[in-house]
Amino acid sequence: MHGVLDMSTASDELVWFDGSVMPLSQARIGLEDRGFNFADGVYEVVRFYRGRAFTLREHLERLERSAHEIFLHLPISLEHLADEIRKLISLSHIEEGMVYLQLTRGQSKRQHPFPEAVKPTLFFFCRPVAPAWAPGEGEGCSIISVEDERWHRCYIKSIALLPNVLAKNKAISAGHDEAVFIHEGKVMECSASNIFCIRDGVIYSSPVGPKVLPGITRLVLMRIAERLGISFREEALPLEEALASDEVFITSTTRELSWVRQWDGQTIGDGKCGPITRQLHEAYLEEVEDEIGSVVAA
Ligand code: PDD
Repeated sequence: MHGVLDMSTASDELVWFDGSVMPLSQARIGLEDRGFNFADGVYEVVRFYRGRAFTLREHLERLERSAHEIFLHLPISLEHLADEIRKLISLSHIEEGMVYLQLTRGQSKRQHPFPEAVKPTLFFFCRPVAPAWAPGEGEGCSIISVEDERWHRCYIKSIALLPNVLAKNKAISAGHDEAVFIHEGKVMECSASNIFCIRDGVIYSSPVGPKVLPGITRLVLMRIAERLGISFREEALPLEEALASDEVFITSTTRELSWVRQWDGQTIGDGKCGPITRQLHEAYLEEVEDEIGSVVAA
């Protein structure tokens, strides 16, 4: 199975924490950090390949937008942050991995109003990632629909992920891989990924907004679809139409593109990875190669 490897026993993981690099196991955040008390914070997950970050600029710009939406200021410039992230990737000696970054409003006496003059808490660490399925390979995902019980500002990459966590666990405990949020009968996104349906050669994906995160993988895919001349419609499909798709796939920074084999017990297409999904995934990996090949490792 692809995803983040379990490194819970690793003792040498490093974290960048408020400007210093230290072993992750030694970093401490106070019990009254607002991230911990109120989920008052935002986060990012960035993939790196062969030790080089992919779409780092896009991720950091989204971080800045998420922070801005909750009236939080980044305590460091994006350029400086990008440099520090590249340095930590290099120090980690991990080739294939991801950076988890979290920014919270910081620590102060627990109270709902924003505290004055509090220093935001910022940290990030690197962790290995198991390779995603190669294009057209793997066993395909099984996904189930769940009612969308989240708030209406899902375009913010907020650390308040309890509805996502509950949905994901509902799917996993029933033997599936992902849960798809359905809002007013229409398909939005999954608990930790965006979703795409292909019908008659057209890719459909719900517009980003109240119920859909502007995924960076999604952004890259839109660029690829345009380049390949494949129609891409930002339109939320009713669930019944989505289930009758020729191909369905889900995307995230760590999983890239995963084809969907089964949705609510129904087989999608002929139960194999479809040709357009495969073509898009191949083009995605070319995009990765182009970008990381042009970056000089830190
Ligand atoms: N999640 N939608 C949701 C709700 C997500 O949590 C994610 C990613 C995505 C895909 O976004 P991107 O392509 O930028 O990774 C869509 C990350 C990987 C996570 O929470 O671990």
